[in-house]
Order: sequence, then structure tokens, then C-alpha cells
Amino acid sequence: MTKHFDEAYRILAANDRGGYTVPTDRLYPFQWNWDSAFVAMGFATFDIDRAYRELERLTEGQWADGMIPHIVFHQPSDTYFPGPDVWRTSHTIPTSGITQPPVFGMALRAVHEAAEKAGTKNAKARTLALFQAGLKWHRWWYKARDPDGTGLVALLHPWESGSDNSPAWDIALARVPTTTDTAVVRKDTGHVDAAMRPRDEDYRRFIHLVDTYAACGWDPVKQWEKTPFKVAEVQTTGILLKAGEDLEHIAKSLGLEAEAQELANYNDLTHKALLAQWRPELSRFVSRDLISGEDIEAPTQAGFIPLLGLDLGGGMVDAAVAEMKLWSNDMKVAFPTTKPFVESWEPKRYWRGPAWAIINWLLIDGLNRNSQPEMAEALRLSTVNAIEKEGFAEYFDPTTGEGCGGLGFSWTAAAYLWLSR
Ligand code: DGY
Repeated sequence: MTKHFDEAYRILAANDRGGYTVPTDRLYPFQWNWDSAFVAMGFATFDIDRAYRELERLTEGQWADGMIPHIVFHQPSDTYFPGPDVWRTSHTIPTSGITQPPVFGMALRAVHEAAEKAGTKNAKARTLALFQAGLKWHRWWYKARDPDGTGLVALLHPWESGSDNSPAWDIALARVPTTTDTAVVRKDTGHVDAAMRPRDEDYRRFIHLVDTYAACGWDPVKQWEKTPFKVAEVQTTGILLKAGEDLEHIAKSLGLEAEAQELANYNDLTHKALLAQWRPELSRFVSRDLISGEDIEAPTQAGFIPLLGLDLGGGMVDAAVAEMKLWSNDMKVAFPTTKPFVESWEPKRYWRGPAWAIINWLLIDGLNRNSQPEMAEALRLSTVNAIEKEGFAEYFDPTTGEGCGGLGFSWTAAAYLWLSR
């Protein structure tokens, strides 16, 4: 056990680039948004100053309109594609032009509470500054990504989900042309087996979207009009709701009544909208393709993430848990990100089936919230055991337990520290 803790600390130190943590060397050589939020929670278990620093450095990339981009390019590196020259954004520190799941508010509450407990100096001022950044970001989500006020936020790029090549996007992404103005010169397949990565065709569509939005000057209103890919998504919305609750909690504890009320209004709206995405016949939640107007029924982990921000009634939670057991019972490592044995399931290919420690972390929180301690503990043990056996891999093949993708991975180290605390 001590050996694994030491290795987790060593990985976080090795991936430190000066107050921020790269997900792993070479494959991901910059600061990634939701990675850093998970990493900050890992740091909160042993180094509160460094935990705050991780979030502070991420907010250096925040745009004037409130968006926190999915990548902040603090320093140059030639080991990653697409770099700043492809994104063509205009922020002082180069950044990408899209966002990622808003785990930030959850991380801020965890760091703030750890700081309060430890009586850390300056904690209140640091929390307050980060809270303002988080609130600005949540306002952006509701304005830019839910202009019709539905309560569900939309993604304009699969990378925004963090689950890049999930089968959830297969139908919607097929409508995006494979033509690009930018030469697609992949670097990822030079670091990791191509069989574990998205396909070339996916990359051409990913970059087509980047070109389209760069041509809109990254204006959210123009992007909303022009995009061929628009999905109101339940994983991101579930995270937004939980993070919104956490920011509301912080606002109350700092005596910010107006801000707490504003967040409560967002949260109420989203709470109702998410509940309406439950499909009893599937025993899970579904996203909506806003271009076709259809439900996205592909069976992925996203269907269970809303448990994180909802308190489901008995019948719903029992059905969701029964379905989750069906997916994970025969797996060496839970939780598969695509339902095993369906046609689109690929247990080694990135987001098309593998088990990810940070997804398990979100599911564990959702299960505990919904009074399912047994399933939560089974998932926690599955995660911790997989890491102790195979190391701090990016993700795991659920059928064999093999560690896959990048190695020495920061968020897997953070998940280990958090789930073993
Ligand atoms: C990648 O490059 O693989 C990332 O997931 C995009 O953020």
C-alpha cells in the first residue's frame, strides 16, 4: 500500500511543470482542464497549497467570456497535435477554443474543505478568487451552451465531453465532413498503440470542427448557428449540476447570498431537465442530438453519471444499479464505458469500452449519494485493485485488467489517493 502511495506522489511530482500538472509526459504535454480538477482533489489529500495552485494555474487560461478552455498551452511542446497554431485563438496564454466537463467546482469545494479543516492561511481569499472564476464559467455554460434555457448544456465537439471517441457520438459525428483546411499530423499514435486510440477518420472530423469554429472567430453565437455537431449531453450536465451545488455551498459558506441564489436557480432548472432524460426502458439517462432532435441511445457510462447530482427515487435507482451490475458483473475491472458485447464495444480503444479511474470516481460518488454503498464499494475496490496490479495507466481493459494508453498518468494517481484516503 505505502509503495503505491509513494508511486502516486512520484507521478504527480514528475508531471509537475511549475504549479500545474500535465496528464502524462509527451502524449499530453500541457494543462488539461478536467484532468487538473481531479488532480487538485488528489493534491488536497496531502498538499493544500499545491491543490489551490493547480486550479489557479488553470484559471490563467480563462477567457473574458468565462469559458475555461480544455487545454492551456503554458509552454511550447512539439509532441502533441493539435497545438496552438491549429486552434488560432487569441487569449494571452495560448489555449484551445473548446471546453471540458466542469469538474472545477467539485474540486474547489474539496480543496476549500481540506483547507478549512487544516486551518490553512489565506485559504478564504484563494477560495473566493477561484469561486468567482467558477461562477463565471457556469454562467458561460448556461449562456453559450444552453441559449434556449432548457437546463441541459450542449457540447459542440466530442473532445468537450472528455470521452472523445465514445460510441455516443457515432451517429452525430458521421454528419461532420472528413475534409479539413488543416493538415492532420497525428502525434498520439507515435506515443501509444494506434489500436488504443481514436481512428484517423475521427481525427479528420475532430479537426473539421476546429476549422469551422476558428472560422467563426470562436464566437459562441456563430458557432451555435454554424455547427454540424450539437449534443445536449447528460454526463457534462450531471457534472455541471454537482459542481453547481458545490459552488452554491461555497457561496453560502462565504456569505455570498446573491451568488448562492443565482446558482440555486441554475441548479433547479438543470435538476428538472436531467430527470426528464431518464428512460425507464433503458434504465439510464440519455443525451439528445440537437441537430436530429433524437435521443442518443448508445449504451455508455454517461447514462449513469447524472446520479452524481440527483437524488433518485427507489425504483429508478434500483433499475440503474441493476443495469450497472449487468454491465460489470463479468468484467475483471469495472466500469466499462460501453456496454460489453454490443457492436460498438472495443475494450482497449480509449472511450469505446475501457474502464477509467476518474469515471469510477464520479460513479462512486453518485452511488453513495443515492444510498448504494455496496455497489460503490465494489467499484472502489475494483479501481484500487486494478491500479495496484497494473500501475497508474491512463485506463484499463475491463476484460483482462491490462493497463492501457499512457502510463504514469496523473489523474489515475489522484484517483488512487482520493479513493484510498
Ligand atoms: C486528445 O488529444 O486525445 C485529447 O483527449 C483531446 O483533448
